[in-house]
Amino acid sequence: MIHPPQRYIVTSALPYANGPLHIGHLTGAYLSADIYVRMLRMLDHDVAFICGSDEHGAAITMRALKENSTPQAIIDKYHALFESTFKKAGISFDMYHRTSSPLHHETAQEFFKTLYAQGEFVEEESDQYYDKKADKFLADRYIKGTCPKCSNPDAYGDQCERCGSSLSPLELIDPVSTITGTKPELRKTKHWYLPLDKYESWLREYIEQGTLEGEEHHDPDEWKAHVTGQCKSWLDGGLQPRAMTRDLDWGVDVPQDIPDAVGKKLYVWMDAPIGYISATKQWAKDKGKNWEDYWKSEDARLIHFIGKDNIVFHCLIFPSILKAHGGYNLPYNVPANQFLNLEEQKISTSRNWAIWVDEFLTEHPDQADALRYVLTKNMPEQKDAEFTWKGYQADVNADLVGNLANFIHRVMVLTHKYYDGKIPAFDEDTPIVGARGNDEASWHEVEMMDLFDRMWSIQNAIEKFEFRNGLKGLLDIATAGNQILQFNEPWKAIKSEPEEVAVVLNLCIQYVAALSLAMHPFMPEASARLRQQLGMDPVSEQGSWVETMNALANGEHLLAEDHALNQPEHLFTRIEDTWVEDQVKKLHDMSKQESSKQEEKAPEGKPDISFEDFMKLDLRTARIVDAVKVPKADKLLKLTLEVNGTERTVVSGIAEHYQPEELPGKNVVILANLAPRKIRGVESEGMILMAEASDGKLHFVSATHDDSGMSIG
Ligand code: MF3
Ligand code: ZN
Repeated sequence: MIHPPQRYIVTSALPYANGPLHIGHLTGAYLSADIYVRMLRMLDHDVAFICGSDEHGAAITMRALKENSTPQAIIDKYHALFESTFKKAGISFDMYHRTSSPLHHETAQEFFKTLYAQGEFVEEESDQYYDKKADKFLADRYIKGTCPKCSNPDAYGDQCERCGSSLSPLELIDPVSTITGTKPELRKTKHWYLPLDKYESWLREYIEQGTLEGEEHHDPDEWKAHVTGQCKSWLDGGLQPRAMTRDLDWGVDVPQDIPDAVGKKLYVWMDAPIGYISATKQWAKDKGKNWEDYWKSEDARLIHFIGKDNIVFHCLIFPSILKAHGGYNLPYNVPANQFLNLEEQKISTSRNWAIWVDEFLTEHPDQADALRYVLTKNMPEQKDAEFTWKGYQADVNADLVGNLANFIHRVMVLTHKYYDGKIPAFDEDTPIVGARGNDEASWHEVEMMDLFDRMWSIQNAIEKFEFRNGLKGLLDIATAGNQILQFNEPWKAIKSEPEEVAVVLNLCIQYVAALSLAMHPFMPEASARLRQQLGMDPVSEQGSWVETMNALANGEHLLAEDHALNQPEHLFTRIEDTWVEDQVKKLHDMSKQESSKQEEKAPEGKPDISFEDFMKLDLRTARIVDAVKVPKADKLLKLTLEVNGTERTVVSGIAEHYQPEELPGKNVVILANLAPRKIRGVESEGMILMAEASDGKLHFVSATHDDSGMSIG
């Protein structure tokens, strides 16, 4: 019934150490992996759950530039933050490593060297943008320009965020360096390319058939359709050779004994996935294991959990690197998730439209499992999904509080009340109403077999990466349990049919014990608390599911007669309306704050005006004849001007900048055809043009000669 133990490397995408994690990240690649791994361990498989911080690449140096910091300070900050975030969220990595470690640098360089020595690379000189002022080649992300596809003026050298096209910097119209704001020039530079075009046919076989050179590798039907679909469309579009090196100053050095390698770094998408291997090496070293058993042996499986934006790197490029090296297993499955939206908008770091995991769990440490529950229930497994705070409230209150915790609590309270907290003995021949609730009698044993089936379907769903279904299976057990209570009404039957009550409560306690196990992958902390209340040891990760399923299959009980329960406590707390309102408000406030911050940084220019509009201005030189203060107005002066031999009056807000007596005789420029209007009772006929100096002082715009109208042609 349970397949023989298998070795697994399970990885979660290494997060870029350039900013905190939001709930989209969590559900996409970490929570999903954690549920899976916890189940694998309970099934007694031999698992290494691997992750770490991705500490190289332009993402990190850009962040350092933005925060006026150094790459090292940035990665240290976020590496530490990630470690504590994952701990708070209950993500049970066996190893959380980092790509800045010497072990990783060595491992990545060894990979590059091997590929180089085997002649896998194609060397090529190409044109690349160079910033003369900054004296460096520009990473794609450092170049901005106009998107050739949708004319977005703010497209990056690698991608346009408006239309989603992936771009090469050479395609950008009017490219500009974001470091110095200057126009970059093209220079020749040498790089080492992986000829993905030559791998197309075996990649296609691997993705579509699940075979490698005719040998069975995996069952392609077990891959998610959207993952296979994306791979096929890349393959159909034709693969291009891809440079595995970059001209950067932050990253893993290309082995410097290779000719022309001076100053070159590994492409971050070659470096980072090798991080899975170096992290495994570290883990094996710490645990006294052999890392190669997990990456190279025939009975080992490699599973990558990622978000959909990483599919091409894990399904096509990394497999190409592994195969070019030789000796490694290729990914057995890549169960990527799609994206999670938040309150009907895309989650966005730049707009601060996000729920930040660390912040939320710091403020609400008791809601880690509730968050895990809701994120799993709404996991974007096959298509994009939605998270809303109202939905969060509904899921927690209805499913966790109203159904799951309620069932558990009722069973435990009744057991304490009728049997002094000890699991009652019962007579097997006493019929009850079963979970299906028809009028036919059911027996304890039949209902236990039903429980076995329910556990089996949870296991199956998780093994197939259908975490939403698995979670539903868990809630179905609570629903069935609640129904058994409802149909048999032990609180009434205790007087008239006490034998029946003993059967019902004994059965329900077995349900609760099964739940405590099935909760573990989804909500490990609540599972541990429940086990304590049940007087059971915490779920032993290794093999406990197998033991339980064997027991159930043999008709054995999970908790024996007379076993004593501890006092029940509520497992989850109701979420109130006001709390939800606060969360929604916070989200809007944070994002508003961010957008006003951005407006300050880059003030919105005024909308363009046409040449015709400009031609409507009648600009003339004038001479100040007289100046007096306007009574009861601190800022205003009343000026008498001579324009083309006639006098006119203009009221001007310059009293804080000029004394009236210094003005007569000055030449100025006025807008002569501004419609006259009354200011403080004085009719003003035109406006004097002023310019603000860097000290904030206003100066007259003046003309060198003072004949009639100025020419603007
Ligand atoms: N840092 C990348 C991201 O956040 C993921 C890297 S996954 C690895 O998109 F395979 F490269 F490690
Ligand atoms: Zn575009």
